[in-house]
Amino acid sequence: MWTYLILIASLLYLFYYWYTSKYDYFKQRGLLGPKPRFPFGNVPNAFLQKRNFIYDLDDIYQEYRKKVPFVGYFEAGTPKLLAISPEIAKDVMVKYFSNFHDNEFSKLFDKEADPIFGRNPFALRGQEWKEKRAEVTPAFTSTRLRSLFPLVEEVLERFKNYVHKEIPKNEPFDIREISAKFTTDVVSSCIFNADAQSFTKEKPEIREMGRKLVDFTSTFFLIQFIILSMFPWINNIYKFSFTPKDVSKFFINLMEQAVTIREKSNIKRDDYLSYLIELKKKKNLANIDMAAHGVTFFTDGFETSSLAIAYMLYEIANDKRVQEKFRKQINEELIDENGKIIYEKMLEHEYLDQIFHETLRLHPILGVYNRECTEEITFDCNGRDFKIEKGMSVNVPIYSIHRDPDYYVNPTEFAPERFDAENGGVKEFRNRGVLMPFGDGSRICLGMRFALMQSKAAVIEIVRNFELSVNDKTQRPLEIERKQFINVVEGGLWLDMKAIK
Ligand code: HEM
Repeated sequence: MWTYLILIASLLYLFYYWYTSKYDYFKQRGLLGPKPRFPFGNVPNAFLQKRNFIYDLDDIYQEYRKKVPFVGYFEAGTPKLLAISPEIAKDVMVKYFSNFHDNEFSKLFDKEADPIFGRNPFALRGQEWKEKRAEVTPAFTSTRLRSLFPLVEEVLERFKNYVHKEIPKNEPFDIREISAKFTTDVVSSCIFNADAQSFTKEKPEIREMGRKLVDFTSTFFLIQFIILSMFPWINNIYKFSFTPKDVSKFFINLMEQAVTIREKSNIKRDDYLSYLIELKKKKNLANIDMAAHGVTFFTDGFETSSLAIAYMLYEIANDKRVQEKFRKQINEELIDENGKIIYEKMLEHEYLDQIFHETLRLHPILGVYNRECTEEITFDCNGRDFKIEKGMSVNVPIYSIHRDPDYYVNPTEFAPERFDAENGGVKEFRNRGVLMPFGDGSRICLGMRFALMQSKAAVIEIVRNFELSVNDKTQRPLEIERKQFINVVEGGLWLDMKAIK
């Protein structure tokens, strides 16, 4: 009995010794950083799911801002770097992209274990990423986006009618849910040529499958993630499976149907689907590759944009001055004599663009960006060289940078006018690396222009037709949900809407 106990205690001690011996990594190399604690390093609240990961990183950011351009910290037993200065963030994401061309999540996936998400550019590495990205980039030309707008307009009509129909019920609107209905219908229509019926059906299948596709809070997903974060070497023998089997099957079928119907119908439209069909012929793509392209657009397209729309409507509802000013501009500048949105004006409208960027400054959909060092490089840290080894991860805490008072006066205030031309406009903040809602460099969001198009259109349609105010059901101050990888708010965003006669 005692022999066993001593053996177990010795093994536990050896494990503890091995695990914590890495905690000297940065000290030995002369880089500042917070003291890690066994077993979760510097992000205990995230591991224990007490609060979102972003807030643990924000604590580190607040402690070291103004002191150093980057620090070393630990996620469980893994040493990582946290970019503090926007210059370092830009160096990693843009200037030295060839030394940081992958993100660490891509290590977790592969095409065998997860044939759908494993083919998403976000989950690809090196040459394979480059090829896949180059393959889909031409799908997002201005002409193709323009040709999709009539489909977006159809869904705008359904969105508006749905709100009108629900108003007499006198209940607050879960703005995130209805924005997700809107984007699900838009992306389904644009990619799969399918009407997802999110506004009419009780449990619309595409919406339900979409929900499962981005369920980052499922126990299955979280267990895999925690184990791999604590013991990253398991990556070599075990790969993440992110897309449930029934969901993969559903989308493969949907894509096959879309292709068959389009090919039979002889419809000639310069849209995403026709681009994919051309690609299929040219490169002899397998059905699974086609489905993966479709699902990439679907997954990355509906949830991110629906959150952007929901946050924009929340901020507009919360600020009557902005709401009235914006509605006046919509009616005077953005609508034609037939009551339709003027597409070109919508894309370049200054105040709308300021509202969009100010919303995503406060509520970036991804609060942290990641790059993995793919080729060793040395950076200067306050006059001292620090060698970043191959494999080391660098996180860019964009949530914290976006709220830093050194870059933004009254940073927690919603003030779209801070991006007025006399302050240099949105572009100036982007160039300085203090505003990056879509990331930056060669891995910048692939669907940025599509996202801008569908989000701006939705906000115009709702604000021109409805008076908005925030319902007390919304828990304020807003807090990001504990378990989420994207910026989803705890308790939801609830609005009251009144039709404008
Ligand atoms: C408001 C909506 C959206 C936001 C805020 C957003 C934001 C982002 C961000 C921050 C990244 C990571 C960039 C980086 O690591 O530097 C990203 C990557 C990506 N996004 Fe988006 N996104 C949005 C909508 C979309 C849409 C509509 C699509 C597809 C149609 C899309 C497709 C992608 C893809 C494929 C990547 C991976 C790019 C790569 O690694 O090469 N996104 N997005």
